Amino acid sequence: MGKNAKMIISRELRLAEIDPYLYGSFIEHLGRAVYGGIYEPGHPEADSNGFRLDVIKLIRELGVPITRYPGGNFVSNYHWEDGVGKDRTARLDLAWRSTEPNTFGINEFTEWCKVAGTDALMTVNLGTRGVTDVCNLLEYCNHPGGSKYSDLRISHGFKKPHDIKAWCLGNEMDGPWQIGHKTAGEYGRLAAETAKAMRLIDPEIKLVACGSSNAGMPTFPQWEADVLEHTYEYVDYISLHQYIKKQDGDTTDFLAQTDSMDSFIHTVAAVCDYTKAKQRGKKDIKLSFDEWNVWYHSNSADDETMKLHPWGVAPRLLEDNYTFEDALVAGLILITLLKNSDRVKIACLAQLVNVIAPIMTEPGGAALRQTIFYPFSHASRFGRGTALAPILTSTKHDTKSFEGVNDIEAIATYDADADTITIFAVNRDLNDSIPLECDVRDFGDCRIIEHITLESDDLQAVNGFPHGETVRPSSSGESSIDNGRLNAVLKKASWNVIRLGAK
Ligand code: AHR
Repeated sequence: MGKNAKMIISRELRLAEIDPYLYGSFIEHLGRAVYGGIYEPGHPEADSNGFRLDVIKLIRELGVPITRYPGGNFVSNYHWEDGVGKDRTARLDLAWRSTEPNTFGINEFTEWCKVAGTDALMTVNLGTRGVTDVCNLLEYCNHPGGSKYSDLRISHGFKKPHDIKAWCLGNEMDGPWQIGHKTAGEYGRLAAETAKAMRLIDPEIKLVACGSSNAGMPTFPQWEADVLEHTYEYVDYISLHQYIKKQDGDTTDFLAQTDSMDSFIHTVAAVCDYTKAKQRGKKDIKLSFDEWNVWYHSNSADDETMKLHPWGVAPRLLEDNYTFEDALVAGLILITLLKNSDRVKIACLAQLVNVIAPIMTEPGGAALRQTIFYPFSHASRFGRGTALAPILTSTKHDTKSFEGVNDIEAIATYDADADTITIFAVNRDLNDSIPLECDVRDFGDCRIIEHITLESDDLQAVNGFPHGETVRPSSSGESSIDNGRLNAVLKKASWNVIRLGAK
């Protein structure tokens, strides 16, 4: 028998309600993410605040319900006071060896969030600063008035509190590269005390503790156990970060790397459950996968810029130009997140504009969709409602680093409001089309609304300036349905979105 995959989906077999925050993203003060990305006063498409409306249009098309800000590594030496009020002070950004002009700060960001239709996920500096400064920032943002920092906000023209409900307690504090890097014990104590004080100011906030920067860190997963030992009582989420990199030009191995993301999630969930049991706790710690993407194309150019030409304002950094095969990996990551949506409740595509991003801009010029834009926009638009239990059997293959990798990776979601089912599937095989059969009888008489595919004969095809968008989806997938059995042909190396509705 040749390569094939079979799925069974049922209304009764539900994995989880999908948290809309699974489709979050990230804007860091890094490279051209802010300056020349979302913010470019004087650009023909900019509004009176300097927000690029062409970029916002694409962000709305992507569907980004929450945006992490302002870092990233940047936040670990950030002085938020430099970016509010009339006098803005430029500072050295040590993380990215750039000059931060601070003309865009907290207030610009919260205004931008309103125009972009996204909530804020605010990260605080637990690298070089601590409890007092974080409390001042929270008071500035969320307290109604009548206190030093809330009145300062009001004096800056923002009478109503920003009311930011989700906060990350630092960024990648386990990483030696982090300014103010800490041991798990040091960080755990600081995060717990900061969280305790923050909750006194605003009991409604949700807090994310820093997990490991990636599963390859020597301190993983002891870091999670130690941090949660101190913070379990005070936090709601623990973070995970992973960037996938193509190694030795091996596409098959590259496409298999999301299997490691799946085991990363399972391990962190297990540590959370261990801590809950140890502390006789009642709550489950949720997972915030608040940095994920493919990242490798720009590495050597970035090293050169930061070493040889430091301290520029908004230099071109981390400007990965994504290929078609990178979009397949992005699709596989989204499937992995959906398959774990019972535990992963926040996830952020890192990042949003120009910096390892689905959207690229030219100064004074156009904005365009990179290849990875499409799987994200499809998942965010159609992957809402309930994630159905992933009952999938697929023929398998081995790669250089992984054994027993599914030829077809897939997940289905059910949107009860629209009464539609969506199957997201990637064919990892580089040479052959593979049939996918899906038993959907439990949903009654269904019809195929559309079968969207992203495919290309050139795995290295890119969208970029000046040639524009060469990689685009089409509704040309081959699917048929008969007596509640869906038969789809998934083309070699393809991303597929099969949407079904009632007849
Ligand atoms: O997203 C780019 C960088 O990757 C972030 O600043 C950091 O948190 C991570 O290492």
